[in-house]
Amino acid sequence: MCGIVGYVGEQEAWPIIFEGLRRLEYRGYDSAGIAIIGPQGDIQLRKTVGKVNGLDESGDHPLGSVGLGHTRWATHGRPSYANAHPHTDCEQRIAVVHNGIVENYLELKRRLADAGHVFESETDSEVLTHLVEEGMDRGLSFQEAFRRMGRMVKGSQAISAVLQGDGAEICALRLGHAGGIVVAQADGQAMIGSDLPALLPLLQSESNMGQVSFLDTGEMVVVTRDGVEYQDLEGNHIDKQPRMVSQEEVQVDKAGYRHFMLKEIMEQPQAVASAMRERVNFETRRVDLPDFPLSSQEIAELDRVILIGCGTSLHAAQVGRHLVERYGGLPAEAESASEFRYRDPYISPRTLVVAIGQSGETADTVAAMQMVKDKGGRLVTICNAEGSQASRIADGSLYMRAGIEIGVASTKTFLASLTILNLLAIFLGQSRGFLDTAKSQELVDGLAQAPRLIGELLADSAVYQHLAQEYVGTDYFLFLGRGVNAPIASEGSLKLKEISYVHAEAYPAGEMKHGPIALIDNDMVTVALAPKDSLYEKVVNNVREVKARDGRVLAVLTEGDTQLAAAVDHALYIPEAPEHLIPLLTTVPLQMLAYHIALLLDRDVDQPRNLAKSVTVE
Ligand code: G6P
Repeated sequence: MCGIVGYVGEQEAWPIIFEGLRRLEYRGYDSAGIAIIGPQGDIQLRKTVGKVNGLDESGDHPLGSVGLGHTRWATHGRPSYANAHPHTDCEQRIAVVHNGIVENYLELKRRLADAGHVFESETDSEVLTHLVEEGMDRGLSFQEAFRRMGRMVKGSQAISAVLQGDGAEICALRLGHAGGIVVAQADGQAMIGSDLPALLPLLQSESNMGQVSFLDTGEMVVVTRDGVEYQDLEGNHIDKQPRMVSQEEVQVDKAGYRHFMLKEIMEQPQAVASAMRERVNFETRRVDLPDFPLSSQEIAELDRVILIGCGTSLHAAQVGRHLVERYGGLPAEAESASEFRYRDPYISPRTLVVAIGQSGETADTVAAMQMVKDKGGRLVTICNAEGSQASRIADGSLYMRAGIEIGVASTKTFLASLTILNLLAIFLGQSRGFLDTAKSQELVDGLAQAPRLIGELLADSAVYQHLAQEYVGTDYFLFLGRGVNAPIASEGSLKLKEISYVHAEAYPAGEMKHGPIALIDNDMVTVALAPKDSLYEKVVNNVREVKARDGRVLAVLTEGDTQLAAAVDHALYIPEAPEHLIPLLTTVPLQMLAYHIALLLDRDVDQPRNLAKSVTVE
């Protein structure tokens, strides 16, 4: 959610922190703020409501080589100047930034207010400032007061604070799964950040070679000009081994595209190829998953697969369910992690739970995973962010390897997830003897075509632009699909909602006659997914039902389907493809349609209102 950046070194801190915040803006952009320790040791504070760029508008940048910045996704208190972080104590000795939720903030706030602390914001975060202040007022050092605060608060979060004065000092801690803190140092400088891209200046340094350390829950880092020190909340020293990260994980660049989202859509052929790398042997035509943590015996003993995720990752889970049933030969279910975690599901050591997530940090997904672990189930994650919470909790990780995704609306990581779900289903089917050699070879041959076929869909964007112009004034879209395309209809409607703010709903096509059909008139547009697959005839009937009631239909068809094309208002085409690739292909025109409608409406495509890329609150 929110993004944190801190710097201690010899260079001017403002530009480094400002750039770091810009790179973290995908985490939230309701307000931003930077605290710099000025030449006199005093805290210089600048805040803005809205995006990080607003901090730069006055051109009035405080000087100093130590500072802390924040970009906010509002949870407690609306976006406003007073609610923007950093929050300072009344004597301006410390400035605090926060990512996550202080669950016991009301109780703490009441007690602090009774003790005379004056609150200036509506945030839960401000209690952290007052807790540190209280500790220091009682004679504790900054570090001791910070640790005390860490022991008093409940909930999942990352917290950082900077101390005024000549002795540069930043403390940061992580509690629970909601907020990561990553640390890098090089050439007498150190940085902390919520995520890798914030640390780019240090990770590009020759003396660093991309070395970073991630805080685990209950850990704290103290950053000074002398270096970094890791402690637990009692102050005991912790040894931490840095880990190497690749430039790919760190770089953030639009590569000439107008938006990250468009760049990421265009990267999908490579993302799909990369997800298959070293997992598919195109000579033996078999899938091999070296990262899959279960032995052959354990795979044979599985009796059920549950796929979970949130948002776009939930739609991937719903597609995965079809693939696992059909090719893996196992009973499979898909469920929203935010619902699943609050049930009391039956889980046994023979249950495989597949948790899907781009970030690997979504609070509901991570909590659901922890529950599965506690119940003794087997746990695999399909995620994009290496070293994320999800990958730490899981027995094993099947990384997407899609490269960093910045656009808040997920695109390439969705196709990477679908690719890995195909691989997983085939792998389970092969291992359990459910798929015969000929069938699994046919499926693998099909997968080999995926990058090319997706590339064909992206070769000419004029068709999507044209249809976006045709449909841009529409107030209400209904997306219909059946079988494996029902979740793709949901994904298409989610993309449109997220980035264009146009009302869109998705329904399994067969359910339409049980209610949504009452909505159909000449103003409503139905987007029907009707590729040539085993349910094609059924969807054709649904399309005809809409047309019979004067509804407008935009259909996604397989090339050459002139018959249905003649019956609908407009058609978008996917190339002819084997059935297991179809969901990857039907997704692409829907992404492009949403993108171009949002462009015409002049929406903020990469950072749509109210959203954030990774939702680390519950
Ligand atoms: C947020 C994002 C969505 C994303 C969802 C799940 O809501 O705005 O685009 O699909 O989180 O994120 P995850 O990282 O778990 O896939």
